[in-house]
Amino acid sequence: MPKKIVLVGLGFHARHHYLPLLGDVVRRHEAQLVGVVDIEDRRPHVEKALREAGLAPAHFLGLRSVDPLAQAEALTRLSRLKAEQGCDGLIVSTDPRNHLPYLTWGALEDVDVLVDKPLSALAMDFSPEAARKLTDDFQSIRDLFAHSTASATIMVTRRAHDGYLMARRILHDVAAEFGVPITFLNTYHANGYWNFPDEFRSRENHPYKYGFGALLHGGYHVVDLAAWLLSVNKEALQDDWADRMEVLTQHATPDDFLEQIPQAVYDRFGLGREMQAPFSQAGRYFAQSCGETDVNISFSARRDERVITMGSIQVMETALSTRAWRNLSEDTYKDNGRHSQERITVHMGHLLTMHIEDYRPLPRDADPQGLAPARFVIRVLRNSRLIGGEPYSEHVLTPHPSAQGGGTDSLTERSRRKTFQRWITGAGRAAAALETHELSIRLLTAAHECMSRRRRGLAPMTSFPIGTPAPSPEAKPMSWGSARV
Ligand SMILES: NC(=O)c1ccc[n+]([C@@H]2O[C@H](COP(=O)([O-])OP(=O)(O)OC[C@H]3O[C@@H](n4cnc5c(N)ncnc54)[C@H](O)[C@@H]3O)[C@@H](O)[C@H]2O)c1
Repeated sequence: MPKKIVLVGLGFHARHHYLPLLGDVVRRHEAQLVGVVDIEDRRPHVEKALREAGLAPAHFLGLRSVDPLAQAEALTRLSRLKAEQGCDGLIVSTDPRNHLPYLTWGALEDVDVLVDKPLSALAMDFSPEAARKLTDDFQSIRDLFAHSTASATIMVTRRAHDGYLMARRILHDVAAEFGVPITFLNTYHANGYWNFPDEFRSRENHPYKYGFGALLHGGYHVVDLAAWLLSVNKEALQDDWADRMEVLTQHATPDDFLEQIPQAVYDRFGLGREMQAPFSQAGRYFAQSCGETDVNISFSARRDERVITMGSIQVMETALSTRAWRNLSEDTYKDNGRHSQERITVHMGHLLTMHIEDYRPLPRDADPQGLAPARFVIRVLRNSRLIGGEPYSEHVLTPHPSAQGGGTDSLTERSRRKTFQRWITGAGRAAAALETHELSIRLLTAAHECMSRRRRGLAPMTSFPIGTPAPSPEAKPMSWGSARV
């Protein structure tokens, strides 16, 4: 029987990724799209997008507004649709501030949910409570699914990525055989996202004006990659890894960004039209209230206060972009000159070092000759006289021929397809099942707590327990002087 799917939120992400994936599984009779939930005003857009993707029209459940009453009505209508047409799977691809009602519905109605990252988001008032709400949300949704016959999966693309799977296997084998953990980890991701100064106020897609930014946009993938690689330590060393994670951040806001790239730069490139307001005093004040553009997270995983693993996670939006135009494109997702770069370094004591570099191609319009090809490179250096193997090995992965014929699929696209396919067919336990995201979400929470503390003039440090499931978030703020010397 084809799995009956309802898609919640047909925005940029769903249109670019889920509709083609749904098209494939519908053609193979593995799934049927029975409904789409979105804001009523988006009905024409939804109908057009389904038509263009070659999908049959589906029931449209339109919310008359985004207020809680309209949301509750939509869930009642969703239950009716399930009773009349059937629904075994919900893809939740709305703004992350609206993920929770749908996740709750899925758990209570025993419907499997595939949800986009981040699990949840909220307007940040820079209080510790707002930051900790991210962990509260995770715990309450995890607990609801623990009592449901259904499951929740977060769509993260690194955990099923051929290159990262290979890298993690190598790290796991060394940790398991020699009892040496990952002692250092750096994950760096630049998502060159050039928001022009006035766009921090106007953007609704990947917004900053609600007090959150890079980390709850693409940053979740980078935090999750770090947590997933660190889970090698937990698997290989079991309870012997660490009992506490200490976290410290530095971050930049749009107000810092206005200082980094001043108005003269826009004027110099002929891009400064109508750009006075963001640089005014009122504009700068507003920019201070926005979410982060760049963040540097330092962490140390400690056992009995002794450092076992040290590392950092860097998420940068102020990095190379190919944007060279004043007006924001209609498609703020793909056509905005965004360029991603990713690099990882891992040390396992004195036994092994690994460097991973994910070279992404530049957009075709910015690099017509294709001078920057896509290559995913893993370089492994070993103390081979002690642990065997080659002292140096290099693994290069390149994109695969497209599953849809013609062209190639990036490794990320292939990973998304694998995760989606596994979710549709229910084959095996999902590598990205909700309950496996605890460390990622606690790191994310701690980073937000640190950034909030910094905004209130406090030391941007906190810590949280790891290793044992904690019943409730109990992030412990730290002062500069409280660490053991
Ligand atoms: N690579 C990735 O993993 C990746 C990339 C981009 C976006 N995302 C995630 O995908 C999700 C959607 O992002 P997007 O860029 O498509 O956003 P978007 O704003 O373009 O689309 C969101 C859609 O949800 C609809 N919507 C809003 N409130 C709703 C509600 N209460 N009920 C039903 N529908 C509602 C909107 O009308 C819109 O059509 C987000 O969680 C985002 O973080 C993931």
